[in-house]
Amino acid sequence: MKVVQNITELRALVAEQKKHCSSIALVPTMGNLHEGHLSLIKKAKEDKNFVVTSIFVNPTQFGPNEDFNSYPRTLDADAEKITPYCDVIFAPTVQEMYPSGTGMIVTEMEKSKRLCGSFRAGHFDGVLTVVLKLLNICEPNSVYFGLKDYQQFVLVSDMIAKLNLDIKMVGCPLLREKDGLAMSSRNSYMDVAQRNRALALVGSLRKVKELFDGGITDVVHLKAQALQVLLPKVSPQYFEIVDPKSLEDVSVASKGCVVAVAAYCDKVRLIDNIIL
Ligand code: PAJ
Repeated sequence: MKVVQNITELRALVAEQKKHCSSIALVPTMGNLHEGHLSLIKKAKEDKNFVVTSIFVNPTQFGPNEDFNSYPRTLDADAEKITPYCDVIFAPTVQEMYPSGTGMIVTEMEKSKRLCGSFRAGHFDGVLTVVLKLLNICEPNSVYFGLKDYQQFVLVSDMIAKLNLDIKMVGCPLLREKDGLAMSSRNSYMDVAQRNRALALVGSLRKVKELFDGGITDVVHLKAQALQVLLPKVSPQYFEIVDPKSLEDVSVASKGCVVAVAAYCDKVRLIDNIIL
């Protein structure tokens, strides 16, 4: 497996593969890879692709008070974990990705303002911009995203469709730890006690699922029950039940709706979701 920092070098490697008719898959990540990321990379390999994993902590998607500087950067360990399933790691520097600053961005005007977007101004502009750049650099046939970041998945799918990119979007299931906590690079910020409190997120989602399976569909009631599980263990930022495509709130839950939560466990911001 090769580790490439340079755009020209990556393009040359991909062009060489395309000559041999390989199908190229891109798995965009910010590194500090865990089993959740690995499931995307493994799936891309199982689907018989030449697999490019990008590892880039993208400054433009972090707010001024967020964890860009402290975000764990573990390239060597990441490379070791994914060697069997990945052909190339693309790990550019910030200078390589943004040599002339960030004056050109992709903005989605509706869905990006909801859920996480209403608390993280500009976050999805940063995500969509870097993903479009990575897609243009790598020119893959398919791109793999996890449903852990459900809103991100919808926005990137929409960008691919609306900007006519000829790329297949592959969504992969959210992976959890044994105790149910959604796998996340940010879990490493928590000590054991905090981690236990963080289980309130999955607890609240499972409570809603259980009530829904028992026939309760009134969203006001479902949210009230969820808050009882969340508080006071974590500080919820939002708990919403939304349409899976438009991401708009529903008042009556139905099969396929997405239940999404974001909450702070002390200073650590966590997200999770479940599909009814
Ligand atoms: P990152 O948080 O590193 O996630 C990279 C990919 O791994 C995303 O598609 C995410 O949904 C997926 N992923 C993370 N945890 C997962 C889990 N527990 N189960 C399944 N998939 C999981 O998302 C980003 O990076 C960035 O925003 C990025 C798209 C790379 C743009 O910078």
